[in-house]
Amino acid sequence: MERTTSAPDDTRPGVSASAGLPKLDERDDRAGDAAGAAAAAIFTLDDVSVAYGGVPAVEDVTFALRQNEITAFIGPSGCGKSTLIRCLNRMNDLIPSATVAGKVLYHDQDLYADDIDPVQVRKRIGMVFQKPNPFPKSIFENIAFGPRVLGMKGDMNEIVEGALRKAALWDEVKDRLKTNAFGMSGGQQQRLCIARTMAIEPEVILMDEPCSALDPISTGAIEDLMLDLKVNYSIVIVTHNMQQAARVSDRTAFFNVDKVEEGKRVGKLVEFAPTEKIFTKPDDTRTEEYVTGKFG
Ligand SMILES: Nc1ncnc2c1ncn2[C@@H]1O[C@H](COP(=O)(O)OP(=O)(O)O)[C@@H](O)[C@H]1O
Ligand SMILES: [Mg+2]
Repeated sequence: MERTTSAPDDTRPGVSASAGLPKLDERDDRAGDAAGAAAAAIFTLDDVSVAYGGVPAVEDVTFALRQNEITAFIGPSGCGKSTLIRCLNRMNDLIPSATVAGKVLYHDQDLYADDIDPVQVRKRIGMVFQKPNPFPKSIFENIAFGPRVLGMKGDMNEIVEGALRKAALWDEVKDRLKTNAFGMSGGQQQRLCIARTMAIEPEVILMDEPCSALDPISTGAIEDLMLDLKVNYSIVIVTHNMQQAARVSDRTAFFNVDKVEEGKRVGKLVEFAPTEKIFTKPDDTRTEEYVTGKFG
């Protein structure tokens, strides 16, 4: 799990200087500077708005997400949580009608600057989706695919084992690595997808409702895993499950859908604060009504 000392930068995919992204050792310096104070910001959003085909979906988001924390995005359906999380690794680029305005800084780097390669961005900032989506291949091949495509150096058996261990899945699957991933339970498939993301050594893991298709026991396993992982990673999770946000996150962003005029609705950030504050004494009455189940 000691990823910061595991490999020099030049053997890691996605961290080449040409990507225009900060090197890991620079990142570590920054974290060191901030020791004793609050954790360093990993994402700083300034007045970010996203529209689809010119129609605004979420507007005016300004906040800073911190390194080695779990940040939860909560709010009613349609308030722009998925839209916003996709801005954090340029996944919205894949939706032709989507346009992003405002500034998204990753460390100090503008993620949308001309010299930034979105493919490199997605290697550094991995994503896990709502529905587990393993490839129709063996467990081993699911993990090995990314590192192989990226030409990562090292022993593939070790890479696969390391990723499965980080995802707390190794003991359950070590004797059936050659079997098809579709034979796993839903919870195991989701942990496989997390392992697959971690095999390419990202710095950030974005999760969009990763547990909504899972039973409570698998959900608990993913939550435990997230708490383990935040020591070495920064995590952003979209969740519909209020208890989950309260259990795992350090900070919570509450979004709501505002009616701007008749027939027009747009997502807005209402409140961003330490999770305990959001759930016990939020500043905004809309936050309080949402977290106490009065609407949403
Ligand atoms: N690919 C898309 N094309 C057009 N509109 C979209 C697309 N994805 C989301 N939207 C719209 O953007 C708004 C926010 O959606 P979304 O980000 O999915 O919200 P949430 O994840 O909070 O439920 C909604 O009005 C939704 O219809
Ligand atoms: Mg969503």
